[in-house]
Amino acid sequence: MKLITCGLPYANGKAHIGHLRTYIPADIYVKYLRMLGEDVIFVCGSDSHGTPIVVNAEQANMTPKQLVDIYHKHFQEIFEKLDINFDYYGRTDEEYHHQTTQEMVKKLIEKGYVYPKEIELAYCPKCERFLPDRYVEGTCPYCGEIARGDECDQGCGRHLEPGEILNAKCKICGSKAVYKKQKHYFFKLTEFKEFLEGYLDKLKGTENALNYARQWVKAELKDWCITRNLEWGVKFPNEDLVVYVWVDAPIGYISFTKKACEKLKKDWKSIWLKDGEIIHFIGLDIVYHHCIFWPAMLKGADYNLPKAVVASGMVKVEGKTFSKSRGYVVWVEEDYLKAGLNTDYLRYYIINYTSHQKDLNFSWEIFKDKVNNELIATLGNFMYRVLHFAWKNSKEIKMDVDEEVMEKIKEVKDKIVESLNDWEFKVASDAFMELASFGNLYFQNAKPWELIKKDKEKCEKVLSSCLQLVKALIIFGYPILPKTMVEMGKIVGIDVKNSKIDDALKVDETIALNKPKVPFEKVEDEKVEELEKKMMRRIRGEKMEEVVDIEEFTKLDLRIGKIVKAEKIKKSKKLLKLEVDIGNEVRQVVAGIAESYEPESLVGKLVPILVNLKPAKLMGVESQGMILAVDVDGKAILMHPERDVPVGSKIR
Ligand code: 2FM
Ligand code: ZN
Repeated sequence: MKLITCGLPYANGKAHIGHLRTYIPADIYVKYLRMLGEDVIFVCGSDSHGTPIVVNAEQANMTPKQLVDIYHKHFQEIFEKLDINFDYYGRTDEEYHHQTTQEMVKKLIEKGYVYPKEIELAYCPKCERFLPDRYVEGTCPYCGEIARGDECDQGCGRHLEPGEILNAKCKICGSKAVYKKQKHYFFKLTEFKEFLEGYLDKLKGTENALNYARQWVKAELKDWCITRNLEWGVKFPNEDLVVYVWVDAPIGYISFTKKACEKLKKDWKSIWLKDGEIIHFIGLDIVYHHCIFWPAMLKGADYNLPKAVVASGMVKVEGKTFSKSRGYVVWVEEDYLKAGLNTDYLRYYIINYTSHQKDLNFSWEIFKDKVNNELIATLGNFMYRVLHFAWKNSKEIKMDVDEEVMEKIKEVKDKIVESLNDWEFKVASDAFMELASFGNLYFQNAKPWELIKKDKEKCEKVLSSCLQLVKALIIFGYPILPKTMVEMGKIVGIDVKNSKIDDALKVDETIALNKPKVPFEKVEDEKVEELEKKMMRRIRGEKMEEVVDIEEFTKLDLRIGKIVKAEKIKKSKKLLKLEVDIGNEVRQVVAGIAESYEPESLVGKLVPILVNLKPAKLMGVESQGMILAVDVDGKAILMHPERDVPVGSKIR
């Protein structure tokens, strides 16, 4: 059995083209493997833990779970729309995943691979807390660049251990951090040096990943701090600590496999405890974690090891380094789906632009050219020309295929299979497109429109050969262009989702045709201009105008409420617990206004309140609505109606 996984996206933001660069090729690979008759499981899930999620949730006045709920759902929707079909898409904040993680951590402890050590950690005297990972900012001790907690993301890219960062500052309040001693737990990575050297010699995958990993193992290995001072995460046994997000995230591959296997009635142990073939698809930025930390953990806890790590190259947008903050980004929903573009086009672009290991540049102009000049002019043109011509002349074609055509189909199939083995997905898609070019030439040279007038039999043979090519294109093309090929399959009577790749080499007695449709629609110049403009506005930092329609707005039940009680919430500097009369009932609401108002001053005040917001717990206190306030430099200022109005009045 084979297991294919994709790096787990943090449930902390929306899906962008950088994510798809890994997930689309992985999905295409899985679809091809299935067509080759392989038994494959494909899993992924939301990475729910880690400090960025906790920090963002805090800033959005939400619990980490609420934030994860939002983005988990978002990613699931995006994957469905793009035909990326995981057998299981889990999330790491679920109980089953915590259990699997704890089992593995306990095993590592039992086997003596984990030890406690007192270390000096950045601590914020103002916020009165330790500053794990993203809570701290400072200077990288290796290259001197600005670094964030556990990563020198703007400089040398190194993983930074707790306490390593220099000139630490609290990310929340900006205070200079002090260093305080605390006991943490370390994984003996250094003991795995020899194992890793041997393992990396045999590990398969893309050279970009393997080369880096081999260099790192030779150069430096340090024991690895695997605990953090946080509430949100998988509890570390017998301590008031959680495990580092990079310990539990890859264990998600195991817990999601278990879930997928439950669903599919397969045996997860044959993959993770025996010799199933595990293949990880990841981005180039997380090679260290997958080729060093992860195999060492698996080895230490007696699990099966990954057979291959396939790393996608980085993404550029309009020739510039991908950057969400500077606007060089393509958001899947906001930019691509909203524009109503065919999702197959993006799948094709990503797979066909360049080799999987190289940098992919996304540009709207190139996108238009690839769709119009390749998908439409070569592939769509051939398929539609043949189908239309055949259908016009006869609804059922007797199949008698030219030997030369069968050989070409076989040659292309072999090329696809071979390139998949080398992780050269572009080569596979080029081979597929080459078959379409071959078809165009064949059709053009054979001139069936002339033959039909003078040699019907010969014409049928030409058409049947062309139809066999169309059939092969539908089958070979399905993993890349699933929506289109399912539709095209219907025209020639192929259930392509359940086809095998060798079906392209089988010749039926006859093919009955349904009315053909044009497979692709052109990407218009105006559309591309509009999308380019949108990107330019974002790059210039102009505010995007999110349009909300009136139906969406009227869903909000906004009213005027009266604060009848207000009190502080223990251990919280920002939050107050309020009781608000909304006319027909009194609601308990948690509001982030403690820094601007004393509780006593609020009683009797009329305030706008969103009544039908999903209830949530903040610092353990349930909030059943939201008070609206003005945001002035992060401070909340309340608003009141201009004259006295009845409690419960509707706001429109
Ligand atoms: O870098 C990231 O986006 C991580 N969330 C990837 C985790 S992959 C795996 F180890 F689970
Ligand atoms: Zn650095």
